[in-house]
Amino acid sequence: MGKILGNRVTIRGSGFFVPARVVTNEELSRTLDTTDTWIQERTGIRERRVAAEDENTSDLAFRAAQAALENAGVAPCDVDMIIVATNSPDTLFPGVAPRVQDMLGATRAGACDVQSGCTGSVYALAMGIAGVSSGLWKNVVVIGAEIISRIVDWSDRKTSVLFGDGSGALVLGEGDEGQGRFVSVDLKSDGSKHDFIVLPAGMTAMPASEETVKKGLHCVFMKGNDVFRFANKVLPDFLRSFLAEADIGPKDIQWWLLHQANMRIIESILSKLDVSPDKAIVNLSRYGNTSAASIFIALAEFLRNQSFAQGDRIVLSAFGAGMTYGAILYEA
Ligand code: UT7
Repeated sequence: MGKILGNRVTIRGSGFFVPARVVTNEELSRTLDTTDTWIQERTGIRERRVAAEDENTSDLAFRAAQAALENAGVAPCDVDMIIVATNSPDTLFPGVAPRVQDMLGATRAGACDVQSGCTGSVYALAMGIAGVSSGLWKNVVVIGAEIISRIVDWSDRKTSVLFGDGSGALVLGEGDEGQGRFVSVDLKSDGSKHDFIVLPAGMTAMPASEETVKKGLHCVFMKGNDVFRFANKVLPDFLRSFLAEADIGPKDIQWWLLHQANMRIIESILSKLDVSPDKAIVNLSRYGNTSAASIFIALAEFLRNQSFAQGDRIVLSAFGAGMTYGAILYEA
């Protein structure tokens, strides 16, 4: 995989939404055998957002999409495609995207979900880019939306402290000369490591039963140390060769937006690339790991507060269940 040929694809607008309820590490430590110090030192997370009982993933996705469309100045009736990256859909089917299409009143748009662990962000974005680049679609809304808080076991300190809820969205469209553009994409998968992050029960391999509920198998299971090692080992080499294919190196990148899973992973990857941590876009301390929404939220929040300089190069990269991983290069 490599260079994006065809039409110039630009980011026309961005938006994000996080639920109002803040859950701090200190609050978690009241019911769980954990401490604010442990969570901050091992992950960089201080607090996360948790959706209200009456909020669904589609509600979060809708709010982000609405904000992104307003930001882009694009009317819902001009949207051709809505893609939602999620691992915590309202229901397995129908997907979240058709709900969002209806809520937005995007009457002409197609809609589908993408599920690829936390890398769903990059996969969904790649599909949106390909659709605009090929001329198939003019305006695409790509959303990452999660309510992971509903699929974690809140008594498991190894997973529950890590995740948070939220959504972010980008509107992609054809760009003019002088506007930002997506340059290249690479998507990878190592399915031999499919047991690293799993939600075991509730589907065909293990239909839901009294037993699966009793054992909590409808919640996220993660081999945290294996995921940690995988990311630290695989991502730096992958990113280096990804950039080499575009005839550039890590030093040519002004901004790194890596999946917001763990500050130690972000720092380790950048250190192996000999890049200063100052170049990372990070909001992990306030939202935790929002899975397939993390890159979208971080990018939309960044763009709300500041902008890229013309010509800045930005790498978006994620890893997650599968194990899948990928990267996208954007030139502002
Ligand atoms: O987006 C999906 C991708 N997922 C990830 O990126 C997760 C990647 N993995 C990680 O971020 C880290 O491996 C964790 C944050 C999950 C764990 O950090 P770690 O530094 O690898 O800790 P550990 O699992 O090696 O555990 C060290 C100790 C253990 O105690 P003992 O056996 O040394 O007595 C754990 O039981 O820390 C204990 N521990 C905790 N202590 C307090 C594990 N979780 C907690 C906790 N609070 N929440």
